[in-house]
Amino acid sequence: MTKTSTDLPMAIQRSDFASDFVWGVSTSAYQIEGAAAVDGRVPSIWDTFSARPGKIRDGSTGAVACDHYHHWEEDLDLAQSMGLNAYRFSIAWPRIFNGVDAQPNAKGLAFYSRLVDGMLARGLQPWCTLYHWDLPQYIEDQGGWNNRATVDLYLQYVDVITRHLGDRIKHWITHNEPWCTAMHGNWDGMHAPGNKSLPLALQVCHHVLLSHGRAVPLIRANVPGAKVGIALSLHPVEPASDSPADAAAASRHDALRNRWFLDVLYGRGYPAEALALVGEDAPVVMPGDLEAIAVQCDFLGVNYYFPEVVQNAPDEYPLRAEIVYPQDRQRTDFGWEVSPQGMVTLLERVARDYLVGDLYVTESGSSYDDHLEHGAVIDTQRRDYLIRHLAAMRDAIAGGSRIKGYFAWSLLDNFEWAEGYLRRFGLTYIDYPTQRRIIKQSGQWYSAFVRGH
Ligand code: FCB
Repeated sequence: MTKTSTDLPMAIQRSDFASDFVWGVSTSAYQIEGAAAVDGRVPSIWDTFSARPGKIRDGSTGAVACDHYHHWEEDLDLAQSMGLNAYRFSIAWPRIFNGVDAQPNAKGLAFYSRLVDGMLARGLQPWCTLYHWDLPQYIEDQGGWNNRATVDLYLQYVDVITRHLGDRIKHWITHNEPWCTAMHGNWDGMHAPGNKSLPLALQVCHHVLLSHGRAVPLIRANVPGAKVGIALSLHPVEPASDSPADAAAASRHDALRNRWFLDVLYGRGYPAEALALVGEDAPVVMPGDLEAIAVQCDFLGVNYYFPEVVQNAPDEYPLRAEIVYPQDRQRTDFGWEVSPQGMVTLLERVARDYLVGDLYVTESGSSYDDHLEHGAVIDTQRRDYLIRHLAAMRDAIAGGSRIKGYFAWSLLDNFEWAEGYLRRFGLTYIDYPTQRRIIKQSGQWYSAFVRGH
């Protein structure tokens, strides 16, 4: 029997999963830290971009955000109180290097050192993302990720971080969602730095992937016992109809959306189908690059949010495909389709088509218009979203999938990039004027689940 969107597998429990399953939450520096000019932090491309009129829907920036820089102990207490065993966070490169001193910023390093100690003291395994989109602006001024020299700057930064924190952090994620870095940042211009050029986006993408490939051996050299991976945003792609034209459009879209990353990371080079589509816009690839990118990792992180439905659109360069939004699908308040089955289909496909080894869901979550009423946030839709995704994951594992952990996006409501503070993804509500944190119904459910109640 197929499950309808209203079926709730209430019987799900932690003991359905392995005892060493990783249960965490995910965050990222620019979205929560605030303290944009504190302790020697320099501007990132997101400070610059969000200050430009019209770029962020509510005109906001991450300058204050959740002020996690000053509330980090309270925030780690929240994660601990939920009973979690892991915490995924990112490091702000602009807190570490300022483009003037060759030496790393001691205050920036000290902040992350305290943060990691705080995680360990609370039984939270630190999962560190080295790059979650906040490139220092001074590096962007020298060409950013389009400049191959940025790969070397990234390696210098990674070297410093892993030498400094590698005694305590064993799980490393080189990059968060290179598709977004490259394509939102440089093709559709929705994200920083806001360029609109496909060849530029593809070159950026290549350098980001190259920096990943070259960072993996460096991290391993600096951190004995390190587990290293990358977090990709992947989407199951469905054709809008049974027509051969829509099927071909879906395949083209999948080639650039998913296989552009998976194929090259798993040693097949960029997919021929996508290279044929982009033609002369393909990136410059130097000898040895593809081998470096295809370095074997310890795990793959999958950030899963929604499937994409695609139809043929002859005029759309380069894909000749268009994303459509069928009326009959359940959606969050952000308009993203709710599809736990999509997550299973995606994870099974990745494991079938590539030798990925261990898989972690490094992000999964939903945005709803939450309200604080009488001191509580009753976000039943997010709770149900979580229940249904965990149940889907349980079924996938029963079917043989090597999923080893799940990180809910996100611990806190936060600065949702181009949407500003209009979208709330947190298991914890942030009352921005007072910076008060209130665990939502969904967070209470996750906590009870993880605690085995
Ligand atoms: C992902 C990002 C994350 C957050 C969620 C909602 O694409 O990695 O920072 O914005 O979407």
